[in-house]
Amino acid sequence: MQATRTCLLLLFLFTCRETQSEFVIKNVTLFVHPAKEVERGTNLTLTCNAQVSHTGGHLPQYTYNFYKDFKPKELHTQKTHAVEQMNFSIPDARAFDSGTYQCELVIDQQKENSQTADVKVKGLQVPELIVDKQRVSEGERVSATCRAEEEKGSLLFSFKDGTKEVYRQSSESGHVQTLLQLRYARIARLSCSYVIDRLESNVSNVVTVEVQELDIRPNITFQPSTEVIEGDTVQIFCPVDSKFQNSTFSLWLIKGRDILKPDMKNSHYSKVVQAADTGEYECSTKMNSITKTDAQNLTVKELFSKPVLTITPVGVFEGQPFNVICKSSNFESKRIRQDEVKYSIYRNEHLVTPGAFDGGYRDIAGTHTDGNYTCNAQTKNIIKWSQLQIFKAKTLVSRPVIEVVDKVVLGHPFKIHCRSEKGSFPINYTLIRNHKPLNHYLSLHKDDQAVFSADITTKDEIHAYKCKAWNSQNSPPLMSEALSAPVIVPVKKVSLQVLPRPDQVIEGTDVFLICNAGNGTPPISFNWYRLGSNMPLKSKTVQVNNSAHNLSAVSSEDSGTYYCEAFNNGSAQSQSDKVTFTVRMAHWKIGVIAAVCLLFLALSVVVLIKYRSKRVGVDRSGEAGVWSRRPPDTGDSGDVVDMEEANVEYTEVLHPQADPTRVPLKKGTDTVYSELQTLPQGEVHDYWTDRNGPD
Ligand SMILES: *[C@@H]1O[C@H](CO)[C@@H](O)[C@H](O)[C@H]1NC(C)=O
Ligand SMILES: *[C@@H]1O[C@H](CO)[C@@H](O)[C@H](O)[C@H]1NC(C)=O
Ligand SMILES: *[C@@H]1O[C@H](CO)[C@@H](O)[C@H](O)[C@H]1NC(C)=O
Repeated sequence: MQATRTCLLLLFLFTCRETQSEFVIKNVTLFVHPAKEVERGTNLTLTCNAQVSHTGGHLPQYTYNFYKDFKPKELHTQKTHAVEQMNFSIPDARAFDSGTYQCELVIDQQKENSQTADVKVKGLQVPELIVDKQRVSEGERVSATCRAEEEKGSLLFSFKDGTKEVYRQSSESGHVQTLLQLRYARIARLSCSYVIDRLESNVSNVVTVEVQELDIRPNITFQPSTEVIEGDTVQIFCPVDSKFQNSTFSLWLIKGRDILKPDMKNSHYSKVVQAADTGEYECSTKMNSITKTDAQNLTVKELFSKPVLTITPVGVFEGQPFNVICKSSNFESKRIRQDEVKYSIYRNEHLVTPGAFDGGYRDIAGTHTDGNYTCNAQTKNIIKWSQLQIFKAKTLVSRPVIEVVDKVVLGHPFKIHCRSEKGSFPINYTLIRNHKPLNHYLSLHKDDQAVFSADITTKDEIHAYKCKAWNSQNSPPLMSEALSAPVIVPVKKVSLQVLPRPDQVIEGTDVFLICNAGNGTPPISFNWYRLGSNMPLKSKTVQVNNSAHNLSAVSSEDSGTYYCEAFNNGSAQSQSDKVTFTVRMAHWKIGVIAAVCLLFLALSVVVLIKYRSKRVGVDRSGEAGVWSRRPPDTGDSGDVVDMEEANVEYTEVLHPQADPTRVPLKKGTDTVYSELQTLPQGEVHDYWTDRNGPD
């Protein structure tokens, strides 16, 4: 550093004109006299010492700056001419002067700081407290001044009443004046202190102030007495000492949270009391924000007790008599006789007992007597009301209705609901079966329904159930009609019938798979299956207990095993036995084969005869004779029933003359049967022609 500066200086020597001295501030040091830690009142001197090297000749101005507590603004600044020492005096130092100091020398563009120096001034002035009065009454204010004027800076003053701080204020002027309000009779001990830079001063002198009680306490009095009887007039007074007659104060009469009278000064409170006026009364004064109270209890005895309304008997049914009674039980015998109290009964706020009345009322229960009943008891100036009572005549049950809750499935338990449209709760319900009680239920409200479990084994048994209802001891139970409801017979035995018979199924004919659901109740759903497939061939739901599925013009591919299943509302699927059939070759095919064989045989015979006898000619009528053995059908042969005969011929099924109207239709089974009609007449011929042509 030093070497660099020297180099720079040498450079200047050769390059610049010698109008101004070249210089270097080598060192700046701060000294504190007499010490860094001193007592208050000491004359402190801060000395800033600088070492400056220069080339001689004209030197620029020196500026000394003094700083405190690292603040950017200088505390003190002084300009000189080439003086290497500068003093800054702090006479009569105070705590305020404590802090961290630093000085700085500025010459031209150059600046150099000293080291820092921590200065501590010990000791603070003891503050002084001055008050204007030393004797006051409760709530009065004293003017208090706290002084510490020898200190400098901002002081935070604190005033105390005993050990409790009562006021705080900061000041730059070395003192604070305030008004302190003194409450409660006692000797108050006031003091003050202050804080500067977190240093706390000693406590000031303690000033005692005598606080005298404010003797404005009122004196509550009752006339005629604190124990009275309802209807008496009570007067309440709140007098205060006459010496306060001309003072400004407020005076209230209070009971609990209610201000009965806001201005009781030169006044009183008067009331005709009731039992509810019993309680604590309070006179309250306020002066100089001081409140004084006096309280006393007033007891108001009942002249007669609150009347009680009773309705008997409890739970009256329509049409039955009932009584309403209104009575007070206790009477202040010193003031009244029992017969001086008059009673009135009200229903829905209308008087029901006009005129003189001894406390009782009789009527027959009905809708007109329903309502809210109250009554009152009264004498000349007192009236007392009873509690409100609701009266409602009960209604007898109506004839109950019996019904099933859900569907009834034979052999499964089901639910029976018994219900009376009218009738007051609670209602007793009894389920009856064949005139014998089976079960009881006590219904307590509208949503509490009498539901019973039951079961039947035959359809007609459903009518064996009845129920009865009652809600009054004095009236007989009412019986419902017999239960009536549709009964679902579940599907149980399912059978599959094949028409024609399984051993007589011939290709080209129609086959009917008739599924029978026994005595299951319709609607019944049927599914037909062919063994080996889970997909039903056909599904349908019908209103009868059987149904047919038609396989029309069967071929050998239709041979197989079939079954069906059925179910209804009351049951799951039930399966039939499996029926197997094989579709057989048509009879005409067998016939053709036989005919060819016979022809061949005949030809052989003819050839043989020719050969043996050498006769000529063939008898063609002999060939026709083969067919003539099968005579034309009679009308009856179109009947389906005939198909069950052992030797049914194909000609009988594909009967050209068969009348469709003569095909027997099983009543209620299925119209599919009508499809079992013969082919049109011409078709039979074509069929023959087609089949015989290629042969
Ligand atoms: C401080 O200086 C003042 C005058 O500058 C002088 O009167 C006083 O006596 C000095 N105080 C002390 C303690 O030296
Ligand atoms: C009034 O009566 C209440 C309850 O009995 C009691 O707590 C209260 O102290 C009484 N007040 C006076 C003033 O005696
Ligand atoms: C099927 O219902 C009819 C009446 O619809 C009835 O006569 C017949 O007995 C029932 N079949 C069986 C097996 O119950």
